Amino acid sequence: CDKHAEPPTARLAGRPKAPRRTHASHKGSYGDVAVIGGAPGMAGAALLAGSAALHAGAGRVFVGLLDPSAAPVDTAQPELMLRDGHTLDLSDMTAVCGCGGGTAIRAALPRVLTTAAALVLDADALNAIAADSALQMQLVSRAQRGQPTVITPHPLEAARLLGYAASDVQADRLAAARQLATRFGVVAVLKGSGTVIAADGDASPVINLTGNAKLATAGTGDVLAGMIGAALAAKQSPFEAACEAVWRHGHVADTWPADAAPLTAGTLARQAPV
Ligand code: APR
Ligand code: MG
Repeated sequence: CDKHAEPPTARLAGRPKAPRRTHASHKGSYGDVAVIGGAPGMAGAALLAGSAALHAGAGRVFVGLLDPSAAPVDTAQPELMLRDGHTLDLSDMTAVCGCGGGTAIRAALPRVLTTAAALVLDADALNAIAADSALQMQLVSRAQRGQPTVITPHPLEAARLLGYAASDVQADRLAAARQLATRFGVVAVLKGSGTVIAADGDASPVINLTGNAKLATAGTGDVLAGMIGAALAAKQSPFEAACEAVWRHGHVADTWPADAAPLTAGTLARQAPV
């Protein structure tokens, strides 16, 4: 044993335990998820996140759309309860915010950032926060109040949050994920090949090895945000929820048959969790 050896700088994500639904449980046992997003022309991203949350086991899923002319129901997914994203009551719900949010998400964020329950921030929610120091302070104060948050940036979104170039983020992904976690007091999921998950105060982030370029198709990030939301709604810890959802998301792509049709985000969202 070399007592001068450096401590490990990262761990690898492991296969999660199969999810269980106990006999006497009910939908309240698995929690409510509220997806906030879907600005005009981008409803699909929010609906994908909602579908993923539902198929990952959430008890009830509300989709708060930011498009005033959105249809009142998704007839292909009638289980999703469509609402107005500006007024949807978030009490006791795990919120998943940003999917297809466009610029409309800015107005919803002060309310979303004060929700007491767990929160997942993705895509345009992260872009809006990167551009606004008042929102950054609200995000940081969530951690001070003990309100859990998971952020799921891809490298460009991470670069905007950190004020770097995306190439700098990619040059040291472990350091970038750790900086995001520390600066904002969150669990940071830095997406891309070899997704890195880092928690505030934990010097040893996790690298996920599942997943492949079959995931390089529009909407797969929205699906991941919904999957993390469902795990949080089921009361998993934010770090565990993020690690397990990222592993499962990648595992679907790894086990997708080579001779099958391409894996679309909608199909990915509908896979049963392993
Ligand atoms: N290997 C492994 N995983 C991959 C690979 C790969 N080669 N390519 C993509 N992925 C995974 C990522 O790790 C991530 O989980 O697929 C997902 C892609 O997520 P995003 O980059 O967020 O892509 P998408 O869902 O299409 O989001 C695009 O959201 O971020 C906004 O502005 C953006 O409107 C755009 C939309
Ligand atoms: Mg995305």
